[in-house]
Amino acid sequence: MRILVLGSGAREHAIITALLREDAGHEIVVAPGNAGIAEQVEVVHLDPSNGAVVTEYALENDVELVVVGPEAPLVTGVADPLRSRGIPVFGPGKAAAALEGSKTFAKRVMDAAGVPTGRATRVGTLDEAVTVLDEFGAPYVVKADGLAAGKGVLVTSDRDAAVEHVTYWLQHGSVLVEEHLEGPEVSLFFLSDGHTVVPLSPAQDSKRLRDGDEGPNTGGMGAYSPLPWLADRFGSEKDFVDEVLDTVATPTVRQLEHEGTPFIGLLYAGLILTEQGVRVIEFNARFGDPETQVVLPRLVTPLSGLLLAAATGSLGNHEAPRFVPTPAVTVVLASEGYPEAVVSGREITGLDDALAVAGVHVTHAATARLDDRLIATGGRVLSVVAEGKDFEEARGRVYEAVSRIRLEGSQHRTDIAARVAGGAR
Ligand code: AMP
Ligand code: GLY
Repeated sequence: MRILVLGSGAREHAIITALLREDAGHEIVVAPGNAGIAEQVEVVHLDPSNGAVVTEYALENDVELVVVGPEAPLVTGVADPLRSRGIPVFGPGKAAAALEGSKTFAKRVMDAAGVPTGRATRVGTLDEAVTVLDEFGAPYVVKADGLAAGKGVLVTSDRDAAVEHVTYWLQHGSVLVEEHLEGPEVSLFFLSDGHTVVPLSPAQDSKRLRDGDEGPNTGGMGAYSPLPWLADRFGSEKDFVDEVLDTVATPTVRQLEHEGTPFIGLLYAGLILTEQGVRVIEFNARFGDPETQVVLPRLVTPLSGLLLAAATGSLGNHEAPRFVPTPAVTVVLASEGYPEAVVSGREITGLDDALAVAGVHVTHAATARLDDRLIATGGRVLSVVAEGKDFEEARGRVYEAVSRIRLEGSQHRTDIAARVAGGAR
């Protein structure tokens, strides 16, 4: 199949790695990609957010499937002109991508569909915000309504910091003040063809910068899959997944179908498992990063067939996604200063040594080639991924590989999957 992948991060590298692993002779083209992706597939220099240009390219080059990786082009509507010209595209149109692009929209859809989520109030002025903050009480949860590149959410017990966050984000639009929810977080992905919804395997992302879930929120510093501890609470992972399918994903997709704005693509449910039950903290309209780096290596069913079935309304006739039971762990290597003041432009060495560790592969996020040197060009630079027969082995491998990579000033967490490794399970 001739497939165009839009995006340039580790998520897109993970998607391309899974497509190549099928060994099905796919012709894959990426726009714009990164240094790691460019070693594997052809790069074209298109602006992924320019729907007209992407559509023209796809038509001229007989592209059979477009896979949209990041949220920004989805929210600005890159999928719409492609779909209207009959090109299969994995990724929702602008209207349905608002599930990620507008938290107010997402809350409205959840409310209409009866999906469990935290109470939230949208505020447009500081006065309103202060009243609502005091009504909900500490810890405070403040969220920018629109896309904020991972920087829009603040969870804090410091009222002044909450007010400051509100003040900042009110300059960019409205803000949501939300009830604080307590419990472990789970990321669960669903493929949707607009009507039929099928789940992938759950993962857990570590969003804070530092060990022990300390420090600022980031795009995600590491992840692992599956989540053996789900069985303690839900009987089995399958029971958990079925519950979220029935109470969250299917009602949401059906609501959007009913509203005439079908969701075609990946529905990412960010969940908190509270004492009172599962609650949605956010929806995303695309694969999660870094969760994708641990979910896709475990996928046995060919990814291209699943994405095409979603894009063409035929998921109901497609075999369900199957996963190996063995785990995958990923650790993100980030530049000095991430997430606030990224120092980029430094050289990365030791990758070949890292790749020599059994069961390890590396997906690139922000890398470029300068002559024969590999350079870090942004905040999250690499996702080092390891598979293993159990979590202990996968975790040992991933950290051995990370220790072999050198990038001056780089940061990574040392406690990814610590909870599930160590022989406890
Ligand atoms: P989001 O960008 O919506 O995923 O939020 C980033 C992080 O903030 C989440 O992964 C949670 O750790 C935290 N968070 C978001 N909403 C809440 C909430 N209502 N209660 C507690 N923590 C939250
Ligand atoms: N890992 C969080 C996200 O993709 O939004």
